[in-house]
Amino acid sequence: MCGIVGYVGSKQAAPWLLEGLQTLEYRGYDSAGVSVVSPSGNLHGVKCAGRVAHLVERAKVANLNGTCGIGHTRWATHGAPTDRNAHPHYDCSGRIAVVHNGIIENYQVLKRQLMLDGHAFASDTDSEVIAHLIEEAWNGPAKGDLASAVRNACDRLEGSWALAVVCADVPGELVVTRCGSPLVVASTDDGAYAASDVMPLASVTSHVLQLEDFDIATLGSDGSISIIDRDGRTVDHPTAIDIDWDASAAKLGGYSDFMAKEISEQPEAIERLLAGRLGEHGIEMDELTLTRAELAAVDRVFIIACGTSYHVGLIAKTVIEKWARIPVSCEYASEFNYSDVLVTNHTMCVIITQSGETADTLTAARRMRGMGCNVFAITNVLGSTAAREADGALYIQAGPEVAVASTKAYTAQMVAAFLLALRLALAHERMSIEEVQRHYEDLCQVPGLMRQVLKRRWQDKQAARLFNGKTSALFLGRNVNSTSAYEGALKLKEISYLHAEAYPAGEMKHGPIALLEPGFPVVAIVPADHVHDKTVSNIQECLARGAVVVGVATDGDERVAKMCQAVLWVPPCPDELIVPVVAALHLQLLARYVARDRGYDVDKPRNLAKSVTVE
Ligand code: M6R
Repeated sequence: MCGIVGYVGSKQAAPWLLEGLQTLEYRGYDSAGVSVVSPSGNLHGVKCAGRVAHLVERAKVANLNGTCGIGHTRWATHGAPTDRNAHPHYDCSGRIAVVHNGIIENYQVLKRQLMLDGHAFASDTDSEVIAHLIEEAWNGPAKGDLASAVRNACDRLEGSWALAVVCADVPGELVVTRCGSPLVVASTDDGAYAASDVMPLASVTSHVLQLEDFDIATLGSDGSISIIDRDGRTVDHPTAIDIDWDASAAKLGGYSDFMAKEISEQPEAIERLLAGRLGEHGIEMDELTLTRAELAAVDRVFIIACGTSYHVGLIAKTVIEKWARIPVSCEYASEFNYSDVLVTNHTMCVIITQSGETADTLTAARRMRGMGCNVFAITNVLGSTAAREADGALYIQAGPEVAVASTKAYTAQMVAAFLLALRLALAHERMSIEEVQRHYEDLCQVPGLMRQVLKRRWQDKQAARLFNGKTSALFLGRNVNSTSAYEGALKLKEISYLHAEAYPAGEMKHGPIALLEPGFPVVAIVPADHVHDKTVSNIQECLARGAVVVGVATDGDERVAKMCQAVLWVPPCPDELIVPVVAALHLQLLARYVARDRGYDVDKPRNLAKSVTVE
């Protein structure tokens, strides 16, 4: 959570800092700020509670003159989202400014000590201690060397951080560092840039450098970047990443919101992912570092993820167990990290994470690697920590996902999991090449099926009206579509703030049925599959209690059409396991229309952030 940016060079800093913060706003959006150093050594800034757009207005009148600066968009952890808690934070002299992404776990001890030493604090945040620690080092052992002062300060920190630091006394220098929170830097003809991820940098370069934990980079106004590690040794060959997203990929491009854009991009995302994956020996997946023999020996799979990615994991579990006949456990990373885990010598771990930066998922992956498991990441963001730390990483190539509610990453991750299941099935000789080819061809139909659903978005718009004035909803489905229900409910509650429960349809009678009363909205995912009749019976149980039912059903299902107040039609799918990938679009569209009807910002729902980098 939180996004940070920094720039030093020949141009005015504020315009790009503000633009960069807008691109990073999906990481947090409860307050924002920038600080700029003028060439003559004046440090000045502006910060405020609220969105970056509000900061942009404030910055217009602040006349932020300077070619070196830092910026921050916040997702509050310590201290309310107020002006005074917005970053940057300053030292006592007001000559050092710091932005921070992460959590300083020992900040209370440090703050107490710093206050005893005479430092005055201006916020309730954990982050402010960093500015005062740098001040101490700057005036003491570092003797005016900013990189050393930052290194010295970091030696006293516990927790996680990505930092960008400027000092009025060195107006042509920007120092950045990280431990546990992401940070990339880039050198260009105009100067040097730093950001939490590659997205804001796509407008200025196609080549960025990835900092490792404890690297300290000094960026100069000539575009130079020099990096030292925690022992002060020069880092010669930092990891380079080529950005193949063009900057417009992270722009609205005529859509009213990113969620709408990203929902529409799903067919192309799946086409990109599938292209070239079928070879003469089955599914091509060079990203897997296990040999075919090692893959054949895998006797257990752990899938670990959070949120929507966890729902992908549930589908993946069903598909891997069905096709490859390997037992799979699917775990919430936050739960997994504090539970007993039993692994065999041949356990494989799959982490699923769009951002590749989710703290809980990364902790779980490190734990599994520590136990000797091969960790395979399914992720979207290039050069993300998950991709770098895993033994192998499959990029879903969905392009930047900006809306906080995950849409295109959800369906692309599912398709990636299907490909993995086919690879495992072949290695375990549970399928012939011909069967693998047939399943691959089924997957190739997904983009076309999605396009049909997108043409039917009017159905979602109409159905959304049934949620007017409602405060709660129930989502039901069976088998793989119990997961569709979980995901549909998560989408709805996340952006419309409507309470939504999701249950396997057959479980409803064991408790949730008590929620039902006349007019209560129920969304039932009831495609033409082997559990169709059972789900239809569950819909009848809802109707008998006066519920208003929206069905998600296969074209031509007259029985469901007669029962439900609205139907979101899904074209026939070649395999019932594929239905969740196609039906997902209706559930995303429905949630978006309900939220828009309520007047909410669907891209930036309250209290949330796109990348959850704290535990
Ligand atoms: O980046 P990740 O896939 O690891 O993120 C996991 C969850 O935070 C994420 O899926 C979250 O649940 C979404 N906002 C749901 O739309």
